[in-house]
Amino acid sequence: MPVNWWDWLLQSSPNIPLQSVLKSSSLQAEDINRLTNYFFLAAGFILLVVAALTAYVLYRFREGKAQTATAKHLSPKWEIVGIGIPTILVAVFLYLNITTIQRVEPDTKGKTPDVVITGHQWWWEASYPGANVITANEIHLPAGRPLLLKLLAADVIHDWWIPQFGNKMDMVPSQENYLWVTIKKPGEYWGICSEFCGAQHAHMRVKVIADTEDDYKTWLQAHQPATVVNTSEGARIFQEKTCANCHRISGTSARGRAGPDLSHLGSRSTLLAGLLVNNQQNLLHWIKNPQQVKPGAHMPNFLLDDTTANQLAAYLYSLK
Ligand code: CUA
Repeated sequence: MPVNWWDWLLQSSPNIPLQSVLKSSSLQAEDINRLTNYFFLAAGFILLVVAALTAYVLYRFREGKAQTATAKHLSPKWEIVGIGIPTILVAVFLYLNITTIQRVEPDTKGKTPDVVITGHQWWWEASYPGANVITANEIHLPAGRPLLLKLLAADVIHDWWIPQFGNKMDMVPSQENYLWVTIKKPGEYWGICSEFCGAQHAHMRVKVIADTEDDYKTWLQAHQPATVVNTSEGARIFQEKTCANCHRISGTSARGRAGPDLSHLGSRSTLLAGLLVNNQQNLLHWIKNPQQVKPGAHMPNFLLDDTTANQLAAYLYSLK
């Protein structure tokens, strides 16, 4: 039993650290949580007042006293207070809401997105305009500056949500949605698809790796198309078995975009949108029987013999 039972209770998976909406890891989340706190304070105050009045009335008109108590008509002064306070509260919160939205979601017109993220059944594609880099499920972003995320959907409605970044945004087919995020510190942040999108909706996790500006540049550089041709048996099988129809591996003729980009698969920590730890054994297990590992996923079973599957897994895992 872990020391902190509250963390333990809320933890979704032993491999993923607790992701709480109350931990503000972006400037936008800070803003939203500030507003949430104001709401809680105001609602708490109203709850106290109503509870106190209810207690007073229950006591004042308790059994045996009700007959002797006489109903008094309150003066108009109290009616004004009764209408005035709620009106002021509504007006104040309307103002706070509008100004928060303006700060969290400034205009996106004419701005180039830093990353384009597309929801697929059931994984995430991330492409970096201008950098010639595409990846899947583990998305690197620089911390410390405002980033514009362009959010798309390839099939059905998905919903982008990293709890510690604050706001969610739906990904709707044939519609472009945007979200601003300014990540406060480098680190790892996990999220999950937040709109039911089919059989594997619950296995649609996303990991954001927030880098320092230098690390981010290094990462983009390392993900440029390979210049050395891979001549392994696995690479040959990959092309021969039509894997390339659905998957992209930069620097090769594999340009499919229906399935996740595999250019640097070996450098990721998880497989299948956070479902499995990334190692050659799990990769092999997946290739051998996709429908057993993630039922409903659009990956067919190619009925490969053990040697072929092993060579393919070894090749893919070698793509660091
Ligand atoms: Cu994608 Cu739920």
